[in-house]
Amino acid sequence: MKTFSVLAALAATVLASPTPTEELVARASSTSLTPITVKGNGSSRFYIRGVDWQPGGSSQLVDPMADTTTCTRDIAEFVKLGLNTVRVYTVDNTANHDACMQLLANAGIYLVLDVNTPLYSLNRATPAPSYNTVYLTNIFATIDAFANYTNTLAFFSGNEVINDDTTTSAAPYVKAVTRDMRQYIGSRGYRSIPVGYSAADVDSNRVEMAEYMNCGTDDQRSDFFAFNDYSWCDPSSFTTSGWDQKVKNFTGYGIPIFLSEYGCNTNVRKFEEVASLYSTTMTGVYSGGLVYEYSEEGSHYGLVTITGNTVTEGPDFTSLQTALAGTPNPTGDGGYSSTGSASTCPPQSSTWNVTNDALPAIPSGAAALMSTGAAGKGFGLTGAGSQNAGGTSTGTASAGSGSVTAVATSTSTAKKSGASGQSLDVRPMIVSGVVLIFSFVGAALL
Ligand SMILES: *[C@@H]1O[C@H](CO)[C@@H](O)[C@H](O)[C@H]1NC(C)=O
Ligand SMILES: *[C@@H]1O[C@H](CO)[C@@H](O)[C@H](O)[C@H]1NC(C)=O
Ligand SMILES: *[C@@H]1O[C@H](CO)[C@@H](O)[C@H](O)[C@H]1NC(C)=O
Ligand SMILES: *[C@@H]1O[C@H](CO)[C@@H](O)[C@H](O)[C@H]1NC(C)=O
Repeated sequence: MKTFSVLAALAATVLASPTPTEELVARASSTSLTPITVKGNGSSRFYIRGVDWQPGGSSQLVDPMADTTTCTRDIAEFVKLGLNTVRVYTVDNTANHDACMQLLANAGIYLVLDVNTPLYSLNRATPAPSYNTVYLTNIFATIDAFANYTNTLAFFSGNEVINDDTTTSAAPYVKAVTRDMRQYIGSRGYRSIPVGYSAADVDSNRVEMAEYMNCGTDDQRSDFFAFNDYSWCDPSSFTTSGWDQKVKNFTGYGIPIFLSEYGCNTNVRKFEEVASLYSTTMTGVYSGGLVYEYSEEGSHYGLVTITGNTVTEGPDFTSLQTALAGTPNPTGDGGYSSTGSASTCPPQSSTWNVTNDALPAIPSGAAALMSTGAAGKGFGLTGAGSQNAGGTSTGTASAGSGSVTAVATSTSTAKKSGASGQSLDVRPMIVSGVVLIFSFVGAALL
């Protein structure tokens, strides 16, 4: 979200008790969509055709998926737009999302979910104290709340934590969080739901950020990379926008990449970039993207205006609808790269203040959750906040320490990955009658 990322040092004064656990008992799972994995075998690709969805924005934080009325209302609009994915920035991990996730699945729509909230997030200015057990417990509880839905496409470990050159020193913490989430998903025996970071549109370190999230040992590498991009302002073109350079610079990048926000609003939006994004000039590198944003929240990015429970489609809605309808996905594999190699970690520079490849070790209290799980321990939207909660990392991680060493056995509460009885391996899979064998661009991880 352009205005909401990880808010610094938020009020530890907001008090609330951890929410009772009874809301986190068994959830039904949505069963009608094929789970998405990072690497298909190239016979059919999945392109994200999505919008960012957070009615109320960051100023009036509400979990849109905790309320069936909201979901029903907005999903009807998503269907009109022809979407297959939505991104939600903040959810209440104590709420029940069964109904909304099922409604999304019924509409053929996947969810890309940010796990952070303003109160439970890294602090970009002082990342070390904010990387702690309480924080990780909360985001693991969010994973628990969504892992069982087949239409949970991916998790974002962070959004725009690094937003200039100075804050690049927070990068090892972003990468450690990504590592820990991946280890948690593996250790809990969940389906291999992809985890990656959503980077800000920062020219001076975009490539370094991408390389960094895909360098090091396999346990440290993300499943995908995404960035927010506002450089195509209609009228524009592939070259005028600089998207040609963003294709060139990321050609051969070893993990899938997509735009987690796009839609410059400097001029009248015709969404002419849609035709470019889903053409083979870009699909060799990119797997689509998400338009910022569904609802108008005061900064003129909204496709619709919501008043009470009434949705009014604005001119941007119609433009996007027309653009998407007129832009099919490429046939075949879209020219994706089948190499999946690690990047070289970027060297320290005036725009990249990371001295070496070392990452902080996971805090011991969070490491313990790999075997016990965090279900029922989430704080929702009203907890006391985690940024100064203690229980921090006490050392540097050793190589491979983020690997999955033990997988929780199935119990009544451990959500096994086989929600719909399909193969859930990250490796190629075929599901009869369904064409969404997934591969984002390129990129085998394993
Ligand atoms: C996960 O989904 C399966 C299949 O629908 C269901 O049997 C199981 O109870 C769910 N587990 C949880 C913890 O919600
Ligand atoms: C993909 O995998 C399926 C099943 O393993 C196989 O039948 C098919 O030929 C493969 N397609 C490609 C393009 O490799
Ligand atoms: C680089 O990061 C370190 C902390 O890791 C900090 O002490 C230093 O001031 C930063 N340098 C710049 C130029 O921002
Ligand atoms: C592409 O890479 C070059 C060389 O590293 C860099 O100077 C340029 O800023 C990059 N462009 C974009 C759009 O990322």
